[in-house]
Amino acid sequence: MLFLNKYSIQKMDQGLIQTAVEKAYQSVLSQNYNMPDRMHVIDHENTLLLMPCFSENFFATKLVSVFPKAREHGQPAVNGVMVLSDNVSGQPLAIMDGAAITAQRTGAVGGSAVKRLTAESIETAGILGAGVQGLSQARYLLFNRKIKTLYIYDLNPEAVMGMINTLKQEFSSLEYVAAETPDQLLADSRVIIAATTSKSPLFEASPDNILGKTFISIGSFRPDMQEFPNIVIKNADDIFVDTLFAIKESGDIATPLKDHVIAKDRIKEFAGLLRENTIFENRTVFFKSVGMALFDLTTAAAVYQQALENNIGQRLDF
Ligand SMILES: NC(=O)c1ccc[n+]([C@@H]2O[C@H](COP(=O)([O-])OP(=O)(O)OC[C@H]3O[C@@H](n4cnc5c(N)ncnc54)[C@H](O)[C@@H]3O)[C@@H](O)[C@H]2O)c1
Repeated sequence: MLFLNKYSIQKMDQGLIQTAVEKAYQSVLSQNYNMPDRMHVIDHENTLLLMPCFSENFFATKLVSVFPKAREHGQPAVNGVMVLSDNVSGQPLAIMDGAAITAQRTGAVGGSAVKRLTAESIETAGILGAGVQGLSQARYLLFNRKIKTLYIYDLNPEAVMGMINTLKQEFSSLEYVAAETPDQLLADSRVIIAATTSKSPLFEASPDNILGKTFISIGSFRPDMQEFPNIVIKNADDIFVDTLFAIKESGDIATPLKDHVIAKDRIKEFAGLLRENTIFENRTVFFKSVGMALFDLTTAAAVYQQALENNIGQRLDF
């Protein structure tokens, strides 16, 4: 059995991870997988998620926890373990750092949304939330688009500076701006990605500041969490979710539905876009991700195969 830590997983090729995420969407279209509702175990503000999934060659389970206040103790909010097994023999093949798999596949979910839901010509972007997912979103955004100015905002200014310093070493040819407010970021960005643990919308807006932009919400995964105000989804020409579970799991969809701001039939599965070649030029688009075990499975399988080919990781015996 192979053990893969975060350093091995972070080194993996971004193109390969994004292809793995798009493979998960293809499986959604072909219904070629077996994934029950993930189990949320809620303990006060903390959540434990149990995420199993079967596909043709592999099955996998991710155990992941979200502790929003862990940052106050200098620790990441998301932790976890991923177990990848063989779907013929049932044997466990690999144990991986579940937080690193989560960050890679969630970055790639955002990257795939950027690739399909924004014009190729966009040059400005903003990231709300400079934590683990915010950094991963930035990496996949910059992998997919030639951004000239990237705005970053977080309640914690040190997190913003840390993220800028990290990104500068990997992507040196653009301008980074530590936004003073979410409003400044919103006004100056064509694509706005939110990856925070916020329970309430990150800004107030008028339609003028929204129209023609793409909004990607990564953070809220409980009905009591919301990143974008209802006015964003209300003015969106297109509304996509990575999985229909988002409708009941995320306040970014559940709240505007409850408030009768949108009708449920306007919400479309992102996977359907893989059948089309729609170009999203000058449209207002809203994409909500809550993630699903199928992404973890296809990502872990791609990571496992790349690790075998390149002799990465440690061998362990039970
Ligand atoms: N969509 C998915 O598949 C997916 C996957 C993993 C994590 N998540 C979710 O993404 C969120 C972020 O996860 P993370 O691992 O990056 O956490 P993190 O703790 O590393 O980062 C969160 C950041 O958000 C900032 N923040 C919180 N409230 C804010 C506000 N109101 N305005 C601006 N910044 C604010 C914090 O200061 C922190 O820097 C969590 O809610 C997590 O559950 C979603």
